[in-house]
Amino acid sequence: MNLLKDSFEFGLHTQIHFGVGRLQELADIIKKSNYARVLICTDKGIANSGALERLERILKNGEIQYEVFDEVEPDPTIRVVKKVEKIFTDSQCEAIIGFGGGSSIDTAKGVSIAAANPGDLTQFEGKNQVPNKGPDVIAIPTTAGTGSEVTHATVLKDEERKYKMGILSEHLHPKAAILDPELLTTLPRGLAAVTGMDALSHAVESYTSNQAQPITEALGLHAIELIGKWLRPFVADRTNIEAASHMMMASTIAGAAFIWGRVAAVHALSHPLGGRYKIAHGLANALLLPVVMEYNLSSNFQKFKRIADQLGENTHGLSDRSAAELAVKAVQNLTADLDIPKTLTGINVELSDDEIQVVAEEAFKSGIANANPKQVTVKDLASIIKTIK
Ligand SMILES: [Fe+2]
Repeated sequence: MNLLKDSFEFGLHTQIHFGVGRLQELADIIKKSNYARVLICTDKGIANSGALERLERILKNGEIQYEVFDEVEPDPTIRVVKKVEKIFTDSQCEAIIGFGGGSSIDTAKGVSIAAANPGDLTQFEGKNQVPNKGPDVIAIPTTAGTGSEVTHATVLKDEERKYKMGILSEHLHPKAAILDPELLTTLPRGLAAVTGMDALSHAVESYTSNQAQPITEALGLHAIELIGKWLRPFVADRTNIEAASHMMMASTIAGAAFIWGRVAAVHALSHPLGGRYKIAHGLANALLLPVVMEYNLSSNFQKFKRIADQLGENTHGLSDRSAAELAVKAVQNLTADLDIPKTLTGINVELSDDEIQVVAEEAFKSGIANANPKQVTVKDLASIIKTIK
């Protein structure tokens, strides 16, 4: 970016409360905002892990009135958002707590939109199409990956179109985010691995995108360094609170980076792969990331060299090209160390050439790949999928 002629925007509107054990402060945060009643939006995994019980105890001790919806599913749908919005309105709640991974937080954001904007949610697809600001969202992530706790985006599935729809709006910044690394300690190993790869995808894509700017670049690089250092020990032992703390931080930093620096071809492709074939978001990103990095390498060898450096590779004395290639190698080694398969076949997904074409076309139409540092056509996107076939 040429600072003499280019301009950019950056804002972080969410109050972050970071620290081990700080979930405890939820009741005080709610009291300060004077919400008469809140709706907790979460999933069965969180309910069964004991974390929901812990949160409810904090609310009861603080004499906070609340309702619980604990049936959020992966890849939240418009249909479920409408159902939760009815519970929210009927029980006269005034704020929504998204407690869980990206699906719970994105559902909470969807409810906030639906509560203040009548009609079909599909009309708000895209950027800044939501007319009215809805009730406040408090985000409490229990995974280190989504970044949704600080972003003004929600991704909701439209089942009719088998399509993952993005809504970006300035009304969607959560009011507060409680980042308590203790909440990560019960995360299953596989989920810790793929959500961590989602965070790495946010960091790498925003750092290298054609929308990158100095603040997002700084955030993206730092997140890459943290993930390179802490994702392996975190996945190996989620009760390692030091590793969990660094991963929680990395995920939020990467979220702040990508909401302004954008994501690109990895996310353009992982959305239709998730929407059509139910491949978990982080897993799809993990398969795609090294391949897309390789495709993008020649757009900026220096940037990929810095990624290699942050991921702990020794680039000393190498040409920029050779150093940049080490960034791809580093990500491949990381996914291998985390026992993440390399191909769609490895996760039992077989795509025909026609199906690949449909995914590539949908990815192209979403516009997400417009931020890719090297331009992509439908044909390029199809060949990227063929590489991970
Ligand atoms: Fe993502």
